[in-house]
Amino acid sequence: MTIEIIVRVDPDKCQGHARCSALAPELFELDEFGYARQALNSCVPSELVDKAYMARANCPEEAIVIEPASRADP
Ligand code: F3S
Repeated sequence: MTIEIIVRVDPDKCQGHARCSALAPELFELDEFGYARQALNSCVPSELVDKAYMARANCPEEAIVIEPASRADP
């Protein structure tokens, strides 16, 4: 069974290291101050799931959160 995930950035933790956007530009974009935000408002496409986990592993502030998509539903 495949579990769909969402990825987001915790703005209270992000310090603008930009590793996420370098590793997964499809998933993260930087604002005018260099802080990251998620580029998608939907589930991470299956071909980008590995990149999402790689970005999370490389964020020194542990600012990237990955959750099952169902938990993000209202
Ligand atoms: Fe911020 Fe971490 Fe990316 S600090 S810019 S979420 S690598």
